[in-house]
Amino acid sequence: MSKKKKLIVANWKMNPASSAEARVLFAKTKRAGSTLDKVETIICPSFAHLALFAHMGTTRVSLGAQTVFWANSARVTGEVSPEIVKDLGVSYVIVGHSERRALGESDEVVAKKVCAVLKEGMSAILCIGEKERDADAKYFELLKNQLKNSLAGTARKSLLGLIIAYEPLWAIGKSAREAMSPRDVREMSIFIKKLLTDLYDPSIAEAVPILYGGSVEEGNTASLLAEGGIFGLLVGHASLDAERFTRVLKTANAL
Ligand code: PGA
Repeated sequence: MSKKKKLIVANWKMNPASSAEARVLFAKTKRAGSTLDKVETIICPSFAHLALFAHMGTTRVSLGAQTVFWANSARVTGEVSPEIVKDLGVSYVIVGHSERRALGESDEVVAKKVCAVLKEGMSAILCIGEKERDADAKYFELLKNQLKNSLAGTARKSLLGLIIAYEPLWAIGKSAREAMSPRDVREMSIFIKKLLTDLYDPSIAEAVPILYGGSVEEGNTASLLAEGGIFGLLVGHASLDAERFTRVLKTANAL
């Protein structure tokens, strides 16, 4: 992970429906990302398509997984181990995305996954975010507990590979208009840095990159990156259209 470049993550979720489309999307995204020197593009295809792109990452365009199991040797039908994705050339793994938490992934399981990913020498993109904003601002407490519990067992020395993606659930899958405002993103990134300082120390808070995700599109990329106090973006639906995503990447690169 480059600490100098902005990290722009393409989270394809269960898309595209065919491997032919996935190949085209990958090729176009890779071509766009390869021309940019201030951005690291991280493409996270579904597990079924990941192997199509094995070892096709470069210094500018990396391969990521959307989740992983928390151990290498266990008898678990249907899961994929950190070792398997690493062998395909994966260097980033999204952990604890809200859509996985909604399927029952607990903080405890997320914490084990973070440890397993870091242990394998890959970077863990740990997702946290509140479901809603209540009038009493209880979401601050919720985020504090979510972060603390999701990092349980992660030793200070292994945190070099940690990235935090702040994704408020209410802002996911909508349009740029409904995304969080850059000002609020800035407030949350300061809050997360404060939590990291309390959990570890100021140098860790400084070193861990914070990303924002939730309806990032080409129209709000510049303001989020310039005013949000963040290191990069986690992009869902706008990463599925190569032309749109290229605009996101180029905008980020031009800042
Ligand atoms: P979105 O998805 O960009 O479509 O809101 C982001 C995410 O779920 O990671």
